[in-house]
Amino acid sequence: MSDGGFPGFTMGGSSAPDMPPLGKPPAPPYVQPGDDHPVSDPIPLTARPDPVADPVAEPVADPVIGPTGRPMPFIPEPGPVTERGSARVISMCNQKGGVGKTTTTINLGAALAEYGRKVLLVDFDPQGSLSVGLGLNPHEIDLTIYNLLMERDVTIDDVIVPSGVPGMDLLPSNIDLSAAEVQLVHEVAREQTLQRVLAPALERYDVILIDCQPSLGLLTVNALTASDGVLVPLECEYFALRGVALLKTTIDKVRERLNPKLEIDGVLGTMFDGRTLHSREVMDRLVQAWGDKVFHTVIRRTVKFSDSTVAGEPITTYASTSGGAESYRQLAREVLERCGE
Ligand SMILES: Nc1ncnc2c1ncn2[C@@H]1O[C@H](COP(=O)(O)OP(=O)(O)O)[C@@H](O)[C@H]1O
Ligand SMILES: [Mg+2]
Repeated sequence: MSDGGFPGFTMGGSSAPDMPPLGKPPAPPYVQPGDDHPVSDPIPLTARPDPVADPVAEPVADPVIGPTGRPMPFIPEPGPVTERGSARVISMCNQKGGVGKTTTTINLGAALAEYGRKVLLVDFDPQGSLSVGLGLNPHEIDLTIYNLLMERDVTIDDVIVPSGVPGMDLLPSNIDLSAAEVQLVHEVAREQTLQRVLAPALERYDVILIDCQPSLGLLTVNALTASDGVLVPLECEYFALRGVALLKTTIDKVRERLNPKLEIDGVLGTMFDGRTLHSREVMDRLVQAWGDKVFHTVIRRTVKFSDSTVAGEPITTYASTSGGAESYRQLAREVLERCGE
């Protein structure tokens, strides 16, 4: 608490495992026998008639109950971007590892890009999983977000690389970023450093997604300070609910002290398995605790996410018609509707 006054602040606490270079495996058939249980198909948000497109459509008597136990709303396909304002900056944040932050950053970003949004992904985890998940070799990246944060003569354009998905770019990272956490402590306005370096990109993108590291340290505080909203991915497991109070406290502190506009854009249930009572119970608890903040979309557990990471591309292109890809498209629609983008 002595330094930033934020809980869980540790200096140089991260360590990234050495990642071997990844070969691209052959693309498997989209649906593998036994892989996609029928429940893994998302319930389409368009299951009910569009009252605007079809004003005389019969109203549906029984609303479809979605996986969160609430009726699924009607969320139309987002239209094209008409005017380009300032990008909405959203941090994927949860101090627990392995809950789907990186997977959500890649796939939500790719789905938003499919809907015609200009997207910038920010890898803000020294483990560099987002960069690896998009096919980059962390050892071969020349300039990373570390250089952008720490070196005055490096511009954002020097560091941005295309992601391989049309309309989506990436600010890559690697283990160098762990040094920034230590070095930033001595900087003036250390919590605002990311916000300052991202500023020139705001006019050029519609959405900027920041993939946070699994801690509530200074890097995450920087991400929250630079953001308009936070998206909290939560694994549908009982243990996932532990630590959420601390995350809420951190978000509240950042809002009070550094960034009054910060909102919680939503809580996303990940690794959901509708066949188990356990997953459904956790979902109920989430809705009790977070109410309407919980996205109607949930991301089901499927091995396709790990497969697509190995392939170095989003599930929306790797297995375009899979339930996982559809779920992230659905999430993109919910995000666009909630954020009015
Ligand atoms: N819905 C899902 N179903 C199955 N595996 C998943 C799902 N989402 C993510 N994973 C896998 O779980 C692991 C952790 O996910 P990741 O997105 O890296 O979490 P985080 O960034 O929060 O640490 C990865 O191997 C990823 O491929
Ligand atoms: Mg991650």
